Parts: sequence; structure tokens; C-alpha cells
Amino acid sequence: MAVVIVVGVQWGDEGKGKIVDLLTEKARLVVRWAGGANAGHTLVVDGKKYVTRLIPSGVLREGVTCVLGEGMVIDPAVLVDEIRTFKAQGFIAAGRDLVVAERAHLTLPHHLEIDRLREERPGGIGTTKKGIGPSYESKAARVGVRVGDLLRPDRFRARVEALTTALAPYIRELGGSAPSVAEVTKKYLALGEELRPFVGDASRIVHDAVVRRDNVLFEGAQGVMLDIDHGTYPFVTSSSTTAGGACAGLGIGPTKIDRVLGVAKGYATRVGAGPFPTELNEEVGELLRKRGNEFGSVTGRPRRCGWMDVAAVRLAIRLSGIEAIALTKLDVMAGLDRVRLCVGYRLGGKTLDEMPVDLDDLAAAEPIFEELPGWPELAGSSIPPAAAGFVERVSALTGIPVWATSWGAGRLQTIVTQDPFSAS
Ligand code: IMO
Ligand code: MG
Repeated sequence: MAVVIVVGVQWGDEGKGKIVDLLTEKARLVVRWAGGANAGHTLVVDGKKYVTRLIPSGVLREGVTCVLGEGMVIDPAVLVDEIRTFKAQGFIAAGRDLVVAERAHLTLPHHLEIDRLREERPGGIGTTKKGIGPSYESKAARVGVRVGDLLRPDRFRARVEALTTALAPYIRELGGSAPSVAEVTKKYLALGEELRPFVGDASRIVHDAVVRRDNVLFEGAQGVMLDIDHGTYPFVTSSSTTAGGACAGLGIGPTKIDRVLGVAKGYATRVGAGPFPTELNEEVGELLRKRGNEFGSVTGRPRRCGWMDVAAVRLAIRLSGIEAIALTKLDVMAGLDRVRLCVGYRLGGKTLDEMPVDLDDLAAAEPIFEELPGWPELAGSSIPPAAAGFVERVSALTGIPVWATSWGAGRLQTIVTQDPFSAS
């Protein structure tokens, strides 16, 4: 029985959905702590594809409660749509299948409008335009509106009025117009009624499960390299994507966490602007994009592809206290003659073992590559020796074990060498 945190160690899209889906077989609660509808986790079960945006990847398992924690920003329109879709397919059958934190903040039309208007101007960082940054800005400015407010019409109207007063001048300055308070109130109170059965004290529910010694899985969205404090600022998301963020987001003490695991792809991708030293702008990058279907599941944007940056992974391992990693999408790299790993950086005559995060340092730093033999197509229940060698090399370079290897979207295309919920 254990409390396990899983985080992406790159720039998001590491294949967390699949890995978390596997782990949910043993979990009682699957919890998200930060971010919002900027996440897009793809799950393939029995050949059928599901994409989750706000709801954790535990949604397909019976008996699992999915929790949207206090640290998230929740777009009620997206959430209601997601609930309806999953319900229609036979999931979220019981009220306890889903808990939405009453203290989580809302993403409202104001935030979507600001995100969109800013991204249309020069200097945009290539956000997902889901209103994430502006929602967290309102929260920090203490003008935010919360999930619990949706259930109290008078309070909701007053909060939307205050939010509009705060944001309207800025929206006008950006060339837009603020949404109407009356329209937002009417539409969102109706959405609130649909959410009412799920709204609760997420922090307490998770705490009680931890005390009962249920298996609890915290599912990270985004990746550690996109962390607001520790990533390549300003090319980051607006929340804490490190494992520590899980404790803050749910109000669960660090003493309650048993294990922290990471998920990495065998190569790397990044969506949106920002430094990416191992990026491949030629044939190989194109091949990885095509074979790996590296197009955003939220926005459809082509993802930038590159070699795995072990120096960045090391940084993520340190920032999140990761004890073991899962390596995904090894099938995508099959057929390449040689594959590469960035094992460090050279900067000003020094060798760095971690990726530097300062933008100027990163621009000046030169990645150091190591080349390994490629492997043929992966099939069946084992992987070719060269792929196994790659996995071993990543483990040796990062100094932590690889606890799962995955070479396809299906539940069967995986080797799990260690049960993360077991006591050892
Ligand atoms: P999952 O959970 C990949 C990136 C955006 C942009 C930056 C800021 O699927 O791994 P935001 O909309 O958050 O303000 O955008 O962060 N980004 C992601 N990239 N996967 C994600 O989530 C992402 N969530 C945000 O592309 O560069
Ligand atoms: Mg994604």
C-alpha cells in the first residue's frame, strides 16, 4: 500500500497517460494537483483511444476515484463536456467516481480571452490558449472565482463582477472586450449544477484515503521542465509541475508520500516556444514526429522533436526526488541506424551534468552527445538487445533504475519490472 507521485520529466507528453493508466489497476484514488485543460493524456484500451484533459487517467478503471485537486484551474465548460463524454461511454457511473475540489480556481471566458489575445501578439510563448496563465494570475491577485462559488449563485455573481472589474481594462488594452457578467453568470451557474454532485473537499478525501492506507496515485500533468519556478522561464506553464507541487496542491504533507516516479520518452518533444538544445530539425525529427504521432492532443500543433536530453532528465530527477523512471515510445525510434543521448553540456570551458536553465547559458551551452546503436521494430513481449542496451544506458547515466519500458500505446506493450505500490 503506498502513496505514489508520477511526474513527466521532460516538457510534457511523455506518455504519462499510458503509464498512469497501468498503475491505476492497483490504485483506489488517482489525483491531479495542478494545471488545467492544457493537459492532454491519451489512453488506448482494447484498441480504443480516449483523451483526458482535466480528469485524471484513472477514469477508465472501475472502483477508482478520480480527484481534481485544489491546486488546479478548472474550466467548467471543458469539465462538463468531458464528464458527459465519459458518462456516455459508461464511465463515471457513480457519484464517488469523481471529486472536484471546491477550492480549485475556475478558468472563465476572461482568462481564455486574455490568453488568446496575448498569444496573437508578438512575444507569445506558444501556450495552449486554455487560459491557464491568466487563471493563475487571477488566483494570485485574489480576484479569482472558485469551484465552490459555482454552487452559490449570489456569491458567484458578485465574484464574476469583481473579476470583470479587475480584468476589463486589461482585456480592452489587448484589443478585446470583456465578457458580459450576466451571460457568464447564467451559463456557468448552469454548468455548476451539472458539477454539483462531484464538488467536495478534495484535500480531506485524499487525506482520509492516505490514512486508510489506500493506494493513492498522484498524476502529474505537463513535465518538470515546464515548472513555473524551476523550468526555462518564461517558456513554462504557470503551475508547480514538480513532485513537491502535489503536496502543495492537495494540502498533503510530504511525510505522507512513499514514492516518486518519473516518465520519460526515449526521445524528447516540446510544444510551443523556448529553448530545446537537442532539437532535430531534419529528417530524423520529421520521422519521430510522424511515427510518434507527435501532434498536440489539445491543440493539434506539431511537436518539436529531438534526442533525449539526459542532462535535463537529471535536473528533473533532482527537482522532484525521482527514484525510478519509465521509458516510453521506444517503438517510435525503431529502424534508426544510430540513436543519440545528450549526456551533458559544455559551457565556458566547464562540463555540466545538468541542463542549465538560464536562457543565456542555455543558448551558449553546447550539448555533448553519445551515440548508441539503433534497434529494429519491436514486437511481442520482449525488446531487442540494442533497445535494452539503450534502457540500461539511460539508467546508468541518470543513476536510477528504469521501472517500466513501453513500446506502444496498448496496455500489453509494456514491461514493468517493479510494482510501485509494493512495500519494498
Ligand atoms: P501534458 O499534461 C506539453 C506547454 C505549452 C507552452 C507552455 C505554456 O499533456 O503533458 P500553458 O497553456 O500551460 O500556459 O502553456 O507549456 N504545455 C504543454 N506541453 N504537454 C502539456 O501537458 C502541456 N501543458 C502546457 O505548449 O509551451
Ligand atoms: Mg499534452
